[in-house]
Amino acid sequence: MSYLSLYRVWRPQGFSEVVGQEQTVQALRNAVRGGRLTHAILFAGPRGTGKTSLAKIMAKAVNCENQRDGEPCNNCNPCRDINYGNFMDVIEIDAASNRGIDEIRDLREKVRILPAQGKKKVYIIDEVHMLTTEAFNALLKTLEEPPESVIFILATTELQKIPATILSRCQKYSFHRLTQEQIISRLRKVGESNAVDIEPAALALIARRANGGMRDALGMLEQVYSYSCQEGPISRDDVLEVLGLVDDAFVARLIDDVIAHDAAAIVNHLNAALNQGKEAGQLARETALYLRDLLISQIAGDKADMVMAGEQSRELFKVHSKNLEQGQILQALRMIMDTSEKLRFSEGQKFLLELVFLEISTLWRKPGSIASATAPQGKGSEFDRNIKMERTNRSDKPDAREVLWNRLLAAVKERKVPTHALLSQGKLLGTKGDTMYIGFQKSYKFHKERMEEKGNRDILDAVIRDLFARELEIEFIFLEDNKYNDIVVKKAIEFFGEDMVEIKD
Ligand SMILES: Nc1ncnc2c1ncn2[C@@H]1O[C@H](COP(=O)(O)OP(=O)(O)OP(=O)(O)O)[C@@H](O)[C@H]1O
Ligand SMILES: [Mg+2]
Ligand SMILES: [Zn+2]
Repeated sequence: MSYLSLYRVWRPQGFSEVVGQEQTVQALRNAVRGGRLTHAILFAGPRGTGKTSLAKIMAKAVNCENQRDGEPCNNCNPCRDINYGNFMDVIEIDAASNRGIDEIRDLREKVRILPAQGKKKVYIIDEVHMLTTEAFNALLKTLEEPPESVIFILATTELQKIPATILSRCQKYSFHRLTQEQIISRLRKVGESNAVDIEPAALALIARRANGGMRDALGMLEQVYSYSCQEGPISRDDVLEVLGLVDDAFVARLIDDVIAHDAAAIVNHLNAALNQGKEAGQLARETALYLRDLLISQIAGDKADMVMAGEQSRELFKVHSKNLEQGQILQALRMIMDTSEKLRFSEGQKFLLELVFLEISTLWRKPGSIASATAPQGKGSEFDRNIKMERTNRSDKPDAREVLWNRLLAAVKERKVPTHALLSQGKLLGTKGDTMYIGFQKSYKFHKERMEEKGNRDILDAVIRDLFARELEIEFIFLEDNKYNDIVVKKAIEFFGEDMVEIKD
């Protein structure tokens, strides 16, 4: 027997098994019960919230031989055949595939052919927003003159991509993300019926991460099942480990460092996580999720359905959401998503990650860095006033690059004072891939050349290995003929300020 994933085994088979989506379920069931069916129905909503499941339930309900109170019996031939995908009159079309487009093309003729096995022919068109204009037109023609015995069920995750001409011919049902409670109680049921012991905190974590999608929740549960083979119940830590997640308390602390403009703490924190084997991409994603929650909780208040911010970090979360303005969060979110994208292709992941957090920290400090269109109007929060005071009091606080550079210099000094004397005449420009660029003015030619000698290089290499837990090539260049006018250096200009980077073409 082939192995069935949890989400397939746990596909709801009748209206009463569907979790949430109460209004939709109620309306559809009533329609079946009263024999008041429309020809075209559109299901719109997020992934894994029950659209395909309900389409199948509908297909069964209208073809069932023992339909009772609107429910399919799941026992008669049509019900069974539909469950196994062997029923000729239920036609599933995946609009995202080429075959789907072909199928829509000859829909107009085929749709006229009477049902072969059942009472109603049901076309389930998934991902309907993926149809080409041509295919939409073909579909529209069919919807304009629907044959008696046919029902179309269209499903989409992207309602805004459906042409108005199609929309106006469909009865529309919105699917909603499931709440954490709904997901948790389903997962608990699945756990119990599989005799797997899983702690409530572990379930809560999965439910939060599923972001309202039941399929994802079941997928994660399955992953956790198959990896954890030790004794005792599955714990929250097991889930964190198996799914490679970063604890939200960690992210909360990191954001705390960023708000405090504590560059050293930011770098240390990130290093600790990376050294524990967390991936840079994952860290960026988790932070993005956290910021998203902050933003949503500011907009929606207590009603917000949060993904992150578990019990442990709720207090910090509350403080952060009070202390940051929407514009600031939005800005940081964009920057992190940007970096996330780059992390996928970049070698110098660690540096990119450090850079983005240090940049945000700098931006969150600079007055007027927030786009006024998004920043809330008014006098500003108490935090804002504190920040402004801090700005004036601590205008001489070193910037983030200086912090990094000073740490590097201090570590070199500890190893060899003469090397430090040479290096301290240089400037850290930035890092590209695995190369770190350090610039000297031409008048410090002597220093640059001594630093290029093996003995001094070796010391610097050792310090970098120590500090950054990785190898970096060092390239010494003259600031005057800096030809490295590339993205990283440009970033460095934005970040460090023109006078510090001194690029000349
Ligand atoms: N409302 C729900 N109640 C119970 N289980 C659900 C629900 N929604 C989804 N599931 C679970 O997730 C699986 C996938 O759901 P389904 O295929 O219906 O989602 P979908 O909305 O069609 O998603 P997609 O947009 O990705 O096609 C189901 O097999 C079931 O196990
Ligand atoms: Mg689907
Ligand atoms: Zn039946």
